[in-house]
Amino acid sequence: LGERSYDIHLGAGVVTSLGALCLRHRLPKRLVILADTNSARVALPPALASLRRAGFDILPITMPAGERQKSLSRAGKIHAEMLRARVPRSAAMIALGGGVVGDVAGFVASTYRRGLPLVQCPTTLLSQVDSSVGGKNGVNHPAAKNAVGTFHQPVFVLADTDLLVTLPRRDIVSGIGEIIKYPLVDDPGLLEFIEEHLEDLASVDGAAVGTIAARCLAIKTRLVSQDERETKPDGGRALLNVGHTVGHALESLSRYSLRHGEAVFLGVIVEGSIAVRRGWMQEADLNRFVNAYRRLRCRFHSRAVGGTILVKYLFKGSAPRFVLPRFPHQAGVVTDVTPAEVKSAMRVLRSL
Ligand SMILES: NC(=O)c1ccc[n+]([C@@H]2O[C@H](COP(=O)([O-])OP(=O)(O)OC[C@H]3O[C@@H](n4cnc5c(N)ncnc54)[C@H](O)[C@@H]3O)[C@@H](O)[C@H]2O)c1
Ligand SMILES: [Zn+2]
Repeated sequence: LGERSYDIHLGAGVVTSLGALCLRHRLPKRLVILADTNSARVALPPALASLRRAGFDILPITMPAGERQKSLSRAGKIHAEMLRARVPRSAAMIALGGGVVGDVAGFVASTYRRGLPLVQCPTTLLSQVDSSVGGKNGVNHPAAKNAVGTFHQPVFVLADTDLLVTLPRRDIVSGIGEIIKYPLVDDPGLLEFIEEHLEDLASVDGAAVGTIAARCLAIKTRLVSQDERETKPDGGRALLNVGHTVGHALESLSRYSLRHGEAVFLGVIVEGSIAVRRGWMQEADLNRFVNAYRRLRCRFHSRAVGGTILVKYLFKGSAPRFVLPRFPHQAGVVTDVTPAEVKSAMRVLRSL
């Protein structure tokens, strides 16, 4: 990304170098560190220790956990707390948490006094393999998910896989839901590796997570560097949204009782089923995704709305845009998916 390029430090125990990295990047002395109640418990003590050793002056802000906190009102409360503490324009912000904290912190950092530098320290599987990289941030609007936000690339990303050991099973599986899209985006061979290491991933084994996260991020960084602001109509960064047209809809329609990665996992399977019917993917390959879902003993498909409600939601305005799997090739953008195709593809969820 030219002058906005940055390093991703990924590995076991790397959080201890947070302070040294902030010094190396000449970040201002005054730092705001945003966590949620869960990430704060696990990750704040080592992060603060490292930053204090390096001499930083830190304002920690802790917010409640959960997707509902990704709101303009939460961002406004954080702005207010920073103003009360007289955080100057020459400060920087650190996001220490999952995708929700990362998206809110990124939004606050890019808007507070017209923008502060940002460091992303992802503490969930999903945020380590996806959301902490690429510079997208934002909050949800009652009318649409991620509707309000900006692009604001971090100064660096620091992903400590040791911090994942406290992650609840549900959030590990949600991370796997985001991981499972990547072989459809651009690296078909990654599917075999995921299949071989599914149990290691589910127990957040550091070596497996490290290798898989590095492969996922290699795909993401390549697409982001070719198309930072997602302006290419039929390729580029948009390909990362495979499974997400159905996924986002199921997530919103569940009123966020489905986690983002859970909804994407279902979206990948449903959109894969559309792809099979179009002859874009072999049924045997779709079954590899279905089998991964079954091996993880997931039951969250029961929280998905039915096909009729989904179709009504997706087709209420102009034709929805799908990034459909074309396995083992790159996914492809289409706008001609019909309501009937979606409805019949949704039946695949009943067989899970
Ligand atoms: N900006 C992007 O490019 C991008 C990409 C993908 C997803 N997203 C967004 O990311 C969000 C989902 O991210 P997520 O799955 O990380 O959700 P999340 O941030 O809600 O984290 C999931 C849960 O894990 C807890 N947690 C965090 N770290 C923990 C730890 N180390 N130990 C124990 N518990 C911990 C959190 O408190 C939360 O309860 C969605 O809002 C999605 O839209 C953004
Ligand atoms: Zn996603």
